[in-house]
Amino acid sequence: MRSLVVISLLLALVAYLFSELTRPDLLLVGTITVDLVDQDGQRPGGAVSYAAAVLKAYGIRACVVTVAGPDADLSVFRGHELHVVPSPSTLTFEHSYAWFGHQRKLRVTANPNITLSRRHVPRHCQRARTVILGPLTLHELDAASFLEYDGLWDQLYRGRQAVGLMAQGFQRRLAADGRVLPLQTPSPQLLAGLGHWRRVTLFLSDVETETWAEDWLGLVVGAAERVLITRGAQGATEYNDTGVTAIDVVPVDKVKDTNGAGDTFATGYMLALSRGLADPAHHAAWAASRAVMQPQSCKPQCAGDLIAGHVPPWGPADRLAGAWRGLAEVGLGLVEAAAREGLAALMHVRRLPAGALAAAVARAAESELDGEGTLGEGELGRVRSGAGGGHGKGQAKGQAKGGSAGGKGHVLSGQEGAGASVAEARRLREEAAAKDQWQSAGR
Ligand SMILES: *[C@@H]1O[C@H](CO)[C@@H](O)[C@H](O)[C@H]1NC(C)=O
Ligand SMILES: *[C@@H]1O[C@H](CO)[C@@H](O)[C@H](O)[C@H]1NC(C)=O
Repeated sequence: MRSLVVISLLLALVAYLFSELTRPDLLLVGTITVDLVDQDGQRPGGAVSYAAAVLKAYGIRACVVTVAGPDADLSVFRGHELHVVPSPSTLTFEHSYAWFGHQRKLRVTANPNITLSRRHVPRHCQRARTVILGPLTLHELDAASFLEYDGLWDQLYRGRQAVGLMAQGFQRRLAADGRVLPLQTPSPQLLAGLGHWRRVTLFLSDVETETWAEDWLGLVVGAAERVLITRGAQGATEYNDTGVTAIDVVPVDKVKDTNGAGDTFATGYMLALSRGLADPAHHAAWAASRAVMQPQSCKPQCAGDLIAGHVPPWGPADRLAGAWRGLAEVGLGLVEAAAREGLAALMHVRRLPAGALAAAVARAAESELDGEGTLGEGELGRVRSGAGGGHGKGQAKGQAKGGSAGGKGHVLSGQEGAGASVAEARRLREEAAAKDQWQSAGR
């Protein structure tokens, strides 16, 4: 009897290791673009094309799922397993440079408006160890679908995945004439894309987040596994369970062009993370530094060329080591979850009810329109206090901080009660409009 149990456990282990060895390394999802640049015509662009070029440099053959029309240049995906969702046109961005090339204005002139979701992804690609999502517009990608499982078998089949969301596109909207305009608070698409289980590694830049009140940042950080905000020449910031860490840039002799630096950072980070490298953030900064040493004229194809050869390819031994790590993490996760549940019960911390975040955003947007109340503060308090209702704001905050199982107290403590007022939000928006500061997409 006992030997039967041992034998089935061993068989399960062998099956697990075998399935880990045969799993695709990476799934990359997002729409490719045609970028019209005034001086030198037309070239492919978008987060996925930079990510694909960088992945190739790492020696990774990824599953790529993209939307493209007949006019798209798909050469940047050569060497990957490509699945194209056909469309009459390709997402087209018209770039015009102002401020002597430092400020970029963007306008969408063709938009397939197809929402990519997990159902567009072939079954075997859904099992990829690492998933990178790179939406460029609000409606282009159903990020939450990649976090959902169709039952227990699907959960076992797809197993633990590292999910990276390059969310720049979720923080801008299109004006009626196609101009790309920044959003001032986290979009419902972004919040939905983080799911319920704090599994997502979120990448944004300072351009998207500079107008966020501290509380919004706290909310997003609390809902993600980690958040990385890139800051151009100032490096980046990582928010995670350890706290807030500044990440220095890796200096280079000459910065030739910063296009794709953010996408390269995110791709390098996710690869380092899934390979278990000691310091993924530093590795990501190094990868980004290689990308800015390349001139714009050869991008996106050449974005990863200086990375190639510096990182040994990932062999079966590494995959097995990764599988062991995964197994250990699952074990530790179970222990930790049990401990956390116990702690939570002890401290009466409540879990957020499903849909609470999205509802709070919708309410905040409404009250902003009505011109009453403060942006977010009351709503955030209500969200934090969970379904319980009847909690004072102070107590809600106390709970959010006390719930150090989430480990995010420090993020909220900085500017206690500093929710930006509607007037403040309006002022920021007017300022932005006055400067005619359209979203700059460089980072
Ligand atoms: C794209 O489709 C969504 C619905 O899926 C719609 O709300 C949105 O307005 C569309 N955007 C454009 C630019 O057509
Ligand atoms: C948080 O980020 C820092 C900087 O990248 C890193 O050193 C630390 O290990 C991270 N902690 C967790 C729990 O991921």
